[in-house]
Amino acid sequence: MKLTNRQQELVKRTFLDFNPTSWFLDHPLVIEKARGLYYWDIEGKRYFDAIGGIFVAILGHGHPRVIEAVKKQLEKLTFAPPLHGISDVTLDLIEKLGSITPGNLKYVKPFSGGSEAIESSLKFVRQYFKQTGYPHKYKFISRYFSYHGGTLAAASASGSGSRKTKFEPLMSGFLKVYPPNYMRDRFSSWEECNRFCARMFEDVIINEGPETVAAVLVEPVGNTGGVITPTEEYFRIIRETCDRHNVILIFDETITGYGRTGEMFGAQTFRTVPDIICGGKALASGVIPLGAMIAKQEMASAFEGPPEKNLEFAHGHTFAGNPLACAAGIAVIDEILEKGLVARARMLGDYLRKKLEGLKDLGVIREVRGKGVFLGMEFVRDTSTNKPFPELGKALKETALRNGLIMRIDPTWCAVCPALIAGESDMDELADLIRKSIKDALEIVGKH
Ligand SMILES: Cc1ncc(COP(=O)(O)O)c(C=O)c1O
Repeated sequence: MKLTNRQQELVKRTFLDFNPTSWFLDHPLVIEKARGLYYWDIEGKRYFDAIGGIFVAILGHGHPRVIEAVKKQLEKLTFAPPLHGISDVTLDLIEKLGSITPGNLKYVKPFSGGSEAIESSLKFVRQYFKQTGYPHKYKFISRYFSYHGGTLAAASASGSGSRKTKFEPLMSGFLKVYPPNYMRDRFSSWEECNRFCARMFEDVIINEGPETVAAVLVEPVGNTGGVITPTEEYFRIIRETCDRHNVILIFDETITGYGRTGEMFGAQTFRTVPDIICGGKALASGVIPLGAMIAKQEMASAFEGPPEKNLEFAHGHTFAGNPLACAAGIAVIDEILEKGLVARARMLGDYLRKKLEGLKDLGVIREVRGKGVFLGMEFVRDTSTNKPFPELGKALKETALRNGLIMRIDPTWCAVCPALIAGESDMDELADLIRKSIKDALEIVGKH
């Protein structure tokens, strides 16, 4: 598409997320509307949105049930800051979320997105330990190649290159270990690699002093870093390690939450109950921003006591638990439950995975990874050497857009996560679009 001079000037007056303005001006996309699996730009061109915006529109764009719930709420109450009170619909969301989480994860603090939820969980954990007799527990261990959000503590916990190095020095007390993908070629099996990487958390905890370590923060499936999909045993080892050293286990389920991995949460997919789940993205399917931190009920007792003890969680956001967002969230969860979309994520995911495996004949895909409909592929120059192929990813960004396909491309891998309203024929269309876009990209980089 082509931008007018006015549009170009206006684009220069803002920033895109993680995208140089110059690149965007050469490859512009101004979206006018979206419905279901598709976007349309202002010239009327249609795009297959293979990633639900960015892991958000789990029910597709503009889902009628969610829109209707928000419309109803608009008539009643649109804003009630959590400073003065709480809205009835926020209480309903708290109840709803508590009914779908594993274990005793019932303590809910709604927010407006993933970064807020993560940032809040880090503060929540530090305050929790101060109030339970462990005031020196303040360190967090997360992983290289992770992304936990754009705010400063979330960025300090993140381990993905320029998304953090540009803002250094970051906060102290944030330690990192490597995720299994990074180490896999050093081990004879994926399982052994996962065991080694999971045990690294304990080595770090012991070396740092368990009395100083507050929490471990991991994504069940890590998007940045290339859809990192550990084994179940990996999470079991981490859970046991945390228990041994009185360390809180936080799952960042901003992407994996709400059905797409084939269970309601990645926690259930990997059969590990963390102490806190943080999330956002799919919770309101993109109709209104919504996130939540969900903690185990036992942690809440550290915040109970007479007012003069000042045990309240010393943290808040004006728009957290916005009634419109809560109404949208309830509608999304109800739709997932009533339509059996968790099982659908498994079936659709199996179908799509086979289609993506079928693209291996192009000779540049090392592996298809992920769970449910959250799937990714790693690009390599050839499958005998498995050398990364970032030029392909860079060209693919261009060709996918040209072919009307939106997915996450980060140049050595790509990810898709189609909405759970999709059918098998949509997955056929998606696989064809990816094949064509990779072939076109290979032509650009001069390899057939
Ligand atoms: C795993 C993960 N955590 C946290 C975040 C931050 O969420 P938000 O962009 O809603 O603040 C993201 C966003 O992409 C994410 O992927």
